[in-house]
Amino acid sequence: MTVKVTWKLPDGTEITGAAEAGQNLMQAALAHDVPGVIGECGGTLSCATCHVHVAPEWAEACGAPEDFEDAMLDMADDRDETSRLSCQIEASDALDGLVLIVPDA
Ligand code: FES
Repeated sequence: MTVKVTWKLPDGTEITGAAEAGQNLMQAALAHDVPGVIGECGGTLSCATCHVHVAPEWAEACGAPEDFEDAMLDMADDRDETSRLSCQIEASDALDGLVLIVPDA
C-alpha cells in the first residue's frame, strides 16, 4: 500500500509523491528530493532537520508529538502548534492524501 503525500514548499511549489506504508515521512521526503527536509540524523530524533508543519486538517490524523519529539522540536526554527518531526510520522492508510508544509529554511 502506498500513501499519497504532498509537501508545500515556501515558494508555493508543491511536490506530491508516494510513501510506502510503514515508511517515515522524512525518508519519503528524501526519496522525492523535497528541499528543506534534510534528515541529518537519519531519523534517530537528534537533529530536528526533518521539521515540517502539518496542514491543520491533518493534525488529528497525525497526532501530537511524543515527549522526546516535543523537546527536540524546540531546536527547530519556526516551531508552532502544527510542528512535527517528519521522521516520527509513519505513512499509513489513515494518512493517504496528507499535506505537509515545509518551513522556510
Ligand atoms: S531526521 Fe533527525 S530528528 Fe528527524
